[in-house]
Amino acid sequence: MEFGIVARDLRLTLGSGASAVEILRGIDITVPQGQTLALLGPSGSGKSSLMSVLCGLERATSGTLRVAGEDFAGMDEDALARARRGRIGVVLQAFHLLPTMTALENVATPLELAGMDDARQRAEAELAAVGLAHRLSHYPAQLSGGEQQRVAIARALAPRPMLVFADEPTGNLDAGTGGAIIDLLLARRAEAGATLLIITHDESLARRCERVVTLADGRIASDSGA
Ligand SMILES: Nc1ncnc2c1ncn2[C@@H]1O[C@H](COP(=O)(O)OP(=O)(O)OP(=O)(O)O)[C@@H](O)[C@H]1O
Ligand SMILES: [Mg+2]
Repeated sequence: MEFGIVARDLRLTLGSGASAVEILRGIDITVPQGQTLALLGPSGSGKSSLMSVLCGLERATSGTLRVAGEDFAGMDEDALARARRGRIGVVLQAFHLLPTMTALENVATPLELAGMDDARQRAEAELAAVGLAHRLSHYPAQLSGGEQQRVAIARALAPRPMLVFADEPTGNLDAGTGGAIIDLLLARRAEAGATLLIITHDESLARRCERVVTLADGRIASDSGA
């Protein structure tokens, strides 16, 4: 369980007063180290919000949360950022590549920031692993959607995180490219023994994970692993 997730009665309210919206309404979930989990649910059900809280990008309003053995519910933003570094890889719904950096720089920069002296070699190897050895010096605008998504995955996986979160990594891709992206995520996860949580709208992709959890209106509606 060391790199797993234990959440109890997690709640997230955004806004205040009359405009306050309860987005997560008491989430209880335990994800053991190494599990692959797909998160399904209608648009607006809270999938991205739950992922933000579980990966430490957003703090829950209440509840308890242990991630990779750390008390995420009790940490401030700086402590969460430190706890994430090198340990948690995140692929966001919009991939957020830096437009002024090449593919290689997008992957190498976080490694450099983490103080690795072989950052560029590692970034090259990581991009080669996602089939982009021939696109190192391309800028995001010069890459297709699937290629940008693969750069985002290489960037998330390069530090060898023990927890990987991916928000609709196949969202804007055709079925063939989307299937290849999932193959890649599952294969790279297996090499590292990492925990993998994927948000998807695609039930056939979801079934490739060991466990499928469905959210509805900020609550867990079904859980194949419960
Ligand atoms: N900053 C915010 N302030 C207020 N409400 C918000 C905020 N961010 C998200 N929401 C609301 O929270 C709910 C859950 O949003 P979330 O992005 O988690 O849904 P989702 O399940 O990921 O949907 P999708 O499948 O469309 O990506 C939505 O109703 C959304 O409008
Ligand atoms: Mg979302």
